[in-house]
Amino acid sequence: MRCKKCNTDAVINMRHHRLALCGTHYDEWVLAQTDRAIEKYKMFTHDERILVAVSGGKDSLSLWDALLRLGYQADGLYIGLGINDPEPYSDVSLEKTRAFVASDVWRVPTTESDVTSPGTRHTPLLHVVDIEQTYGKTIPQIAREKARGQGRPCAACGLTKRYVMNRIAHDKGYAVLATGHNLDDEVAVLFQNTMRWQTGYLARQAPVLPASREGLTRKVKPFVRFYERETATYALVRGIDYIYDECPHAVGNLTNFYKTLLNQLETESPGSKLAYYLEFLRARSEGLFEKFNPTTELHDCEVCGQPTTAPGRCAFCRMWDVSALVQ
Ligand code: AMP
Ligand code: FES
Ligand code: ZN
Ligand code: ZN
Repeated sequence: MRCKKCNTDAVINMRHHRLALCGTHYDEWVLAQTDRAIEKYKMFTHDERILVAVSGGKDSLSLWDALLRLGYQADGLYIGLGINDPEPYSDVSLEKTRAFVASDVWRVPTTESDVTSPGTRHTPLLHVVDIEQTYGKTIPQIAREKARGQGRPCAACGLTKRYVMNRIAHDKGYAVLATGHNLDDEVAVLFQNTMRWQTGYLARQAPVLPASREGLTRKVKPFVRFYERETATYALVRGIDYIYDECPHAVGNLTNFYKTLLNQLETESPGSKLAYYLEFLRARSEGLFEKFNPTTELHDCEVCGQPTTAPGRCAFCRMWDVSALVQ
């Protein structure tokens, strides 16, 4: 395969776009597409401070790198979940994240289209919240305790991550919280939501979730239009070292089963995932799910003050048995 722009060897062939590109032109293309998505969905501006939730994986580290190169004031948040059995998954993720910040990877301009020169680029801060140090237990411990050893810790983990992301973004005055969700992630969730017609979830599945209330931060997913293979190729081209393994508790879960199914569909019909997602967004923007938007009044959690649907303690404070604010 040859690069469509310069005819040298291509590093990627994107059948859905009928586009093969070399490293340099691919890098340029990813930056341009990212900036376009940020503008199209009105995610944020250059004047706003952005908190990128980084897991040490290819998507979030690549996102952070791209935002810095595009001249955004992007800092990182790593949440230490304490998942280190049987493999040191959380410890390695933190190592990769720290190494990214300490390295000069994000400073390196590899294309002429870099909007910022490395000298003028924002120097990123990394915030680290270790769950065990802050709340006394690791995610597997709290999940075992609450679910009495049943099932996976993913629900407890998801709730905790969402809470910490929102709290740090709000407390440290960030205008937006960005996550590295890619197209494969979004399409698997969309499939899961449509299988059961979970209209409330569909109403809230979007590249941008506005801050609906004081105490909540706007949430954005600038990489939603990139396939997983595309973010992996960007990381490779940029020399970003990331954790290859996924969380051991996610292996064999329903989302991954749907991802496998959807990959089969994509192989037969290139572009079907992208079309499925974009057509969903079109239908959503035409108001198909509007009436399912939750209108429930939110209250302040009596312990931490974060918004919650029921009066009293929020789901996080109930799960962690928090009765006084932990800083
Ligand atoms: P996942 O739910 O693991 O697919 O991750 C989706 C996104 O959530 C990632 O792209 C990150 O932006 C964010 N994320 C996941 N795990 C962490 C973590 N431990 N700390 C901070 N952000 C995370
Ligand atoms: Fe939270 Fe796997 S990342 S349980
Ligand atoms: Zn080229
Ligand atoms: Zn609370």
